[in-house]
This record gives sequence, structure tokens and C-alpha cells, in this order.
Amino acid sequence: MNTSTFNSEDMDFESRYVDPHYKSEDDASVEYSLRPRTLNEYIGQEKVKENLKVYIDAAKRRGEPMDHVLLYGPPGLGKTTLAGIIAAEMGVDIRVTSGPAIEKQGDLVALLTNLNDGDVLFIDEIHRLSRQVEEILYPAMEDGAVDLIIGKGPSAQSIRLDLPKFTLVGATTRAGQITAPLRDRFGVILRLELYTPEELAGIVRRSAGVLEIGIDEDGATELASRSRGTPRIANRLLKRARDFAEVVGNGTITKETAELALARMEIDPLGLDNIDRMLLTAMIKNYNGGPVGLDTIAAAIGEEAITIEDVYEPYLMQIGFLSRTPRGRMVTPAGYRHLGFNYEDKSGGRADNVQQKLFDD
Ligand code: ADE
Repeated sequence: MNTSTFNSEDMDFESRYVDPHYKSEDDASVEYSLRPRTLNEYIGQEKVKENLKVYIDAAKRRGEPMDHVLLYGPPGLGKTTLAGIIAAEMGVDIRVTSGPAIEKQGDLVALLTNLNDGDVLFIDEIHRLSRQVEEILYPAMEDGAVDLIIGKGPSAQSIRLDLPKFTLVGATTRAGQITAPLRDRFGVILRLELYTPEELAGIVRRSAGVLEIGIDEDGATELASRSRGTPRIANRLLKRARDFAEVVGNGTITKETAELALARMEIDPLGLDNIDRMLLTAMIKNYNGGPVGLDTIAAAIGEEAITIEDVYEPYLMQIGFLSRTPRGRMVTPAGYRHLGFNYEDKSGGRADNVQQKLFDD
């Protein structure tokens, strides 16, 4: 079993700059230092923050731990960070683990019994807990106790073990995959949204300050507008743009150095990379823009359906390039235009090299 005191997200290591799951080694070491530690430092997710402030204040006034919290939304939006902030604002410690890391019931019982009163237990990817392990959580969340079976056969006995008071913070990219009994035991359910470009520019400026990177307003705006609404991507693009600024420019990230870095990483003006473009292009060329089923798209581009759903689609839908219909996914007219295809005849014919122009402009 794998737990840590701060971050145990188990990540897919893909070489994709705009993959919100992807963490290179330098990301892992600096990302922790970039995490805001208080709600006041945290930029964006205004509704979530406002409500959390009330719940935290109320719990503190009563001298009780906060109720259990479920955070859901696309990867890279700050679920682990928020769990850390809840613990810090409550003045307690946090234990971090993830659904796939808890293999046996005993692993979870050990984690729960070792908490101190009031602590936060953060379980990332909570939808991936096994059924048996999940069943330990029900009485733990509801009654602050676990039921253990001692012995086997007719002499088996059930004993109830009281636990320290704790707050469970669960995180998932897929609220729909949480079982109803588990979901019902969370007193607070919060949905994280993709960030606006303005919020992301604020995050880029803050991170540049923490890492002592020189960046001007236009440089920050440029990186923010290509970060797919995701702080983890914004921070990664910031670090890569710094590399270009230091080697090719004068050390400060300007609009020009940001554009150069992004073009070299093949990230287009809206933050789409090769895989996004391949996905949309395959749908247009092979399936006349849809409707086409998720599994068919996945097979066509050699990605897992779940990755397409969690990682690529949220942003493509947010910018209005992809829509979900009961009959399957469809590329919108805006998606056609962005890739230089002609929507009107839906022939798959390509207008003159528009995609290349997007980089040249
Ligand atoms: N770094 C990553 N996410 C952040 C956020 N929401 N606010 C401030 N800094 C961040």
C-alpha cells in the first residue's frame, strides 16, 4: 500500500505536455511548493471556496472535524491541493492515499486507526476502491467505527473498533462511478470547474513569483490561454517557457518567447496538441464529423475510451469543438473551422492549410 503525507497521485507517464495527468520529475518536486496552502492564496473555484469557508468556520466554531467532502471534476484542477487546504485551515494533519493503493480491508483499517483526532484522510481516485474496502468506509464515515471479524467459521466474532474523529476527503474524476451508498455518506459534495483564462493568468503569475521566473503580462496571458483551463498544465507550460526564455531569449517570458515555446511543443493557439487534433481529424475524416461512439473514436486513435472522456473531451466540449449527443460524439462547426475543414459540405475536404496558418500568425 502506498500512502504519503502529501501527494500520492498515481500518474500515467505519457509524454504529453497538455496531459493533466502527466508529471515529469521536475514537476513532482516543484509542484508541491507551488500549491497554495490557504483558501486566500487559492485562485479560482470561487463558489467552492465560498462554501468551503463557511463549512470550515462552522466546524471550527463547534470544535468538531469538518464533515466528509467529495471533490469531483477533471484531472489537474486542484483536488489534492484543496484537501491540503482543508487540513491546513482546520489545523490538522493530512494523510494522502488513493483508491488503487488500498488493496485490502486491513490496509484501510490500519490507515484509519493510525489517524489522530480531527485528521484529514485524503483518498484520491476514490471510485477505484474495491467493494470490500469500500464497505469498511461506510461505518467509519457514519459511526466513526469499523467492524472487524475475528476468527473463522462458527467461532467467528464481530467486534466494533472506535476510530479517532476524522474528515474523509475523497476525490474523483468520475462522480458517476461512485456507488450511491458511498456518495450518500459525504456531507459536502463539490464540483470543480475548468478555470477561466484570467484565473489561469493569475496562477501563472503567482507560480512565476514562487519560482522566481521573470514573466510579463502578455507572456502570462499567452500561457494561460493555452492551458486548457487546467492549473497543472499552466504550471508545466510556465516551466517549459522559462527554458526557452533562458536559452533563446533574455530570461524573461514575453509573448514572443511563450509563442515560440508553445509552437515548439506543437500546442496551438487554443491549447490543443497533436492528440486533440488527431482525435478531431479522425472524427471528421473517417466518420464525417459524427455522431460516432466513444469506443470507435478510441480505437481509431489508439487511446483508451476513459482517457478520452476524462482528459480530452472536457476541454474540447468547453471550447465548443465537440458535443455529446445520444447517438455519439460530434465535431461542431467551430471544431471544423479550427482544423481548417469545411463544415458546410462536410466532405472532409481541407481548406487551404489553415492549421499551419494558426501557428504562423
Ligand atoms: N497552483 C495550482 N493551482 C492553483 C490555484 N488554484 N491557485 C493558486 N495557485 C495554484
